[in-house]
Amino acid sequence: MFTRLFKIFLRFGSRQPYRISRIELKSSNPACLLLEWLEQAEKRGAKARAMNLATATKNGEVSSRHVAISEITDDASIVFTSQNYTSKITNIEENPQVAATILLQYEDSGVNILKQIVLTGKAVKLPHETCKEYFTKVITVSQQIRYVLTKKSEWVDCDEFNEAHDTLLTDISTKGTKLEMPDTLVAYKIVPHTLDFYYMSQHNIGDRLVFTRTNDNQWKCVRKLT
Ligand SMILES: Cc1cc2nc3c(=O)[nH]c(=O)nc-3n(C[C@H](O)[C@H](O)[C@H](O)COP(=O)(O)O)c2cc1C
Repeated sequence: MFTRLFKIFLRFGSRQPYRISRIELKSSNPACLLLEWLEQAEKRGAKARAMNLATATKNGEVSSRHVAISEITDDASIVFTSQNYTSKITNIEENPQVAATILLQYEDSGVNILKQIVLTGKAVKLPHETCKEYFTKVITVSQQIRYVLTKKSEWVDCDEFNEAHDTLLTDISTKGTKLEMPDTLVAYKIVPHTLDFYYMSQHNIGDRLVFTRTNDNQWKCVRKLT
């Protein structure tokens, strides 16, 4: 109670103004800031390996859902995997323009931290062999099993599904079985045109850095208030 009153005194009693939560930039490459933010958030226990991905049909009907982040490449592209029959992939095949949002929320030394990264850009399909590498080296065993068991999109009997799941898991853990990538699996990278970093700590005013890719493939960065 006393601490709370003291904090209120510090903010209002001492007439301390609301401050801007400044984003410190160490590199002109947004991939560095993106990786730094995800690592910082993970160290403090936040879930930082998924993004909300918005896609649209060629007629502009929008849909969104979460996908796991498989990799962030040096050019700030984000790789994800999915089954080729899902609506995100059928959307991308007719309209490659996408947007993605990553929300990071955690506490650092008792201070609430909120960070958001919004990307807009194009989804580009990766070769089959590259997709195989993500399947075997990057994605988790539970995701591998899910992909193997959902290679057909039709509804299955729950008990049969669970039995098949447990058999695969036992084979992997006791016999070291390596799962074959289903041929329905695809990997895409989102090549960003813009990356918008937003940072707000506690009740302070948020700071934003917006990176835009120029025609000669460099990054232009502008600081904005929210
Ligand atoms: C945290 C989280 C991560 C997910 N990761 C993936 C993923 O990497 N790939 C995928 O296809 N679906 C993933 N899903 C499931 C999708 O959100 C979605 O329900 C499914 O792919 C069907 O999407 P669509 O038909 O709208 O394309 C994830 C769901 C959650 C909640």
